[in-house]
Amino acid sequence: MDQIKSIVGVDHIGYAVKSISQSKEQFAALGYFFDDEKPDILRRVNVSVGKNGGVRVELLSPLNTADKSPIDGYLDKIGSTPYHICYEVSDIDKAISELQEIGFTVLGSPAESVPLEGTVCFLYSTDIGLIEIIDYLIDK
Ligand code: NI
Repeated sequence: MDQIKSIVGVDHIGYAVKSISQSKEQFAALGYFFDDEKPDILRRVNVSVGKNGGVRVELLSPLNTADKSPIDGYLDKIGSTPYHICYEVSDIDKAISELQEIGFTVLGSPAESVPLEGTVCFLYSTDIGLIEIIDYLIDK
């Protein structure tokens, strides 16, 4: 299968974690440097991005609210765990239709991620599982 043209490359690995401050300490020991924790109100999570050379991890923990967050299921069943790989795309609408053509199902409409400064969308395939795609508002 040829590479989809709108896929730019791997952007980050998303981790669901119980506590960002605790997880950061162990990631720091593995060589990661983190930006400040920011809330993503829409998804009811806190977010902090860490870099280690060319690899980025996005730590997500539930906001302390009564509402459920999308990562609660992972934390309840598995505990802290990687749960998605995010791909940067050049055009999110085009990427979604191209991914649908090869068997991905779209999970919800594309929506802004304030902490990441881009538009993101989650998709699922039975062969790969969950992926996220991101279209940055500004070229990095
Ligand atoms: Ni992500």
